[in-house]
Amino acid sequence: MKQINLLLVSLLLAFSAFSQNEKIPQLGTDKIDDVISAMTLQEKVYLLVGMGDDAWKTPPTGQKSVMLGDAAGLTYPIPRFGITSAVLTDGPAGLRIKVEQSLASHPFYCTAFPTATSLAATWNTALVEEVGKAMGNEVLEYGSDVLLAPAINIQRNPLGGRNFEYYSEDPLVVGKMAAAMIRGIQSNGVGTSLKHFVANNIETNRTSINEVISQRALREIYLRGFEIAVKESQPWTVMTSYNRINGFYTSENRDLLTSILRDEWGFQGMVMTDWGGGKDAVAQMNAGNDMLMPGNGQRQELIDAVNNKLLNESVLDQNVSRALAFIMKTPRFRGYTPTYTPDLKAHAQVAHDAAGETMVLLKNDKNALPFASNVKRVALFGKTSYHFIAGGTGSGEVNYNPAAEASINDALVSGGYKLLQPLSDFYKNFIDSLVAGAKPRDKKWVVDFHSELPVSQNQISDQVKNSDIAVITIGRNAGEGSDRTAGNFLLSETEKDLIKSVSSAYHAANKKVVVVLNIGSPVSVADWRDDVDAVILAWQSGQEGANALVDILKGKINPSGKLAESFPMKYEDAPSSSTFPGEPKDNPVNAFYNEGIYVGYRYYSTFNVPVAYAFGYGLSYTQFQYSGISLNNNNVNNDIGVSVKVKNTGKVAGKEIVQLYVNAPAAETGKPVQELKAFAKTGLLKPGESETVSFKLSNSDLASFRTDLSSWVTDKGTYEIRIGASSNDIRQKTSFDIPKTVVVEKVHNVLYPNLPLKELNVKASGK
Ligand code: BGC
Repeated sequence: MKQINLLLVSLLLAFSAFSQNEKIPQLGTDKIDDVISAMTLQEKVYLLVGMGDDAWKTPPTGQKSVMLGDAAGLTYPIPRFGITSAVLTDGPAGLRIKVEQSLASHPFYCTAFPTATSLAATWNTALVEEVGKAMGNEVLEYGSDVLLAPAINIQRNPLGGRNFEYYSEDPLVVGKMAAAMIRGIQSNGVGTSLKHFVANNIETNRTSINEVISQRALREIYLRGFEIAVKESQPWTVMTSYNRINGFYTSENRDLLTSILRDEWGFQGMVMTDWGGGKDAVAQMNAGNDMLMPGNGQRQELIDAVNNKLLNESVLDQNVSRALAFIMKTPRFRGYTPTYTPDLKAHAQVAHDAAGETMVLLKNDKNALPFASNVKRVALFGKTSYHFIAGGTGSGEVNYNPAAEASINDALVSGGYKLLQPLSDFYKNFIDSLVAGAKPRDKKWVVDFHSELPVSQNQISDQVKNSDIAVITIGRNAGEGSDRTAGNFLLSETEKDLIKSVSSAYHAANKKVVVVLNIGSPVSVADWRDDVDAVILAWQSGQEGANALVDILKGKINPSGKLAESFPMKYEDAPSSSTFPGEPKDNPVNAFYNEGIYVGYRYYSTFNVPVAYAFGYGLSYTQFQYSGISLNNNNVNNDIGVSVKVKNTGKVAGKEIVQLYVNAPAAETGKPVQELKAFAKTGLLKPGESETVSFKLSNSDLASFRTDLSSWVTDKGTYEIRIGASSNDIRQKTSFDIPKTVVVEKVHNVLYPNLPLKELNVKASGK
């Protein structure tokens, strides 16, 4: 009996082993390697190349739910292994999908949050994380799996067409903002795609341009923000950029995607191309660019390459394994059922709160702002006053509910101000006629890109009598695919005339003039700012921007934003102005990054070039006093703690952004005169209230890149710590010594320039 039982058991075991062998391994249940072993070459290649137009032509069986209209891309489902599609959607200022969805009974509106440039000006990582949480919730609840954001290229030149989608000219600000945004979005269980890796700082000829950049500038400036974001918050995916660097497309560069991103930084996720980026699918697979997006005809090329022994199938296996690990994390794979009804009201509040912290008070003579209590009637000039620019164009756009959109005009009216009817009608009629005359696809943008409307002296004189203050809005828009021109940086003659004529008429009547800048990237300010009393930078701060601006004009919110990008006196002062966009100028092939590491304030501070408004600058309705800088120890190996006390010495509550710059010894390598190494924002301090702000500095925070050693090195010598209210307003200083030079990290000697650079440098002091 016992023997019979044993036989039965072993038979059963054998049978179950047999049936398991027969079973097709399932993603999520079986090991990824087993799934890969059971996949055909064709299946592997289908998985690694996005669905492209196929997705919209022939929806895969049983996958109807993935059809999110205007999703940027989909990955291929392979139902026999339980491999679902992943839906990828733009973009950095909120989810970009179609409003009218074929299977839905209500519009799919999304929230237009402040653009990245605006968010960086908050210098508030906790707030950016909250924005990310709300954004990511819309991704989840509308049935997407990944938000193609954040976009974190350096604002290298003020004319960069996508600067509004990016955070800053400084890699530390970029990295910290991106890390916060990724944490926020991914806390919903959806993914991000940190983009565009790397140096997509030029839109002109973006899919072919070769950027010639030194190894040091790459390491210290262009890669650094990505490094911080990857190490601090592990985005699910990284998107390679369109451009070439030092001769190679980024998506085809194994040194970049494998040696640096994975081996040095420990990136765990999947790499995808930008849409149509790169040329050679085989090189992309070899480089570790796992997924080709949106997918267009590369499948046969890859199959042929394997069959002809030009591509090793094991390379595909590795890429497939990363793609499958990614798919397993997606809400769609986990079986999440979207509600299609995110809480748009709550998210509008998040957008409003964030917008209130983005705005930067650039000038405020004799407390022109907030409006005095006797200001009741406002004369509102400038087309953008009646048509707020919430964000830029291209994949960074968001389709938000037009009913949620407020112009500055609407927001002032809701704020209790009286607007002058003839003037409002004049602008509104102009806007209506522009929109009515535009082609359907241009209606949304026609006002933003149209030149300003001239206003006559008579019209201005009529307003002066009937209003208490004048507000003039200057707007600019830009977007993907092209850069701005040097002319676009300047105010037009009509805009300058408007500012001049309104200011002289109002000043003659002893009334004030405020200029609002509704822009995504710097414009010229030095040539007109003296005419006006106050200038407030409202950025392109999302659908709630105008409402938040009025809170600031009224004094309900005390502005607490500061610039994360310098405003030069003139465009020609920008360190890359003579090489931007590239050579030859009209149809560039190469772009020479001759300014090296001297980007933004690193250049202006080191070479004493005056700026209109410095990096880190922004006024408040109150004042702050800094005192008591102290170090907790003198040994950087134990991390140096720096603290400083900040006191609100003014009359209203406010928040202060405290910046820590370091002047490092430059005996062996030339260095910028100062570099931002840490920053913090205080809580809302009441008048008289103080807060002690603390920072930590480690050896690696202080290191510079030594090209000759391929290493990050902290030089011996004296380090001066400068605590500033901006890069040119240093309030407290102290210093410490590092007795011995330390090689903090040796890295791969890769990505060297393929053409000679005439790189700007500062001589090492040689001491
Ligand atoms: C842009 C990306 C975007 C992608 C998908 C590309 O043209 O450069 O930023 O995510 O399109 O829409």
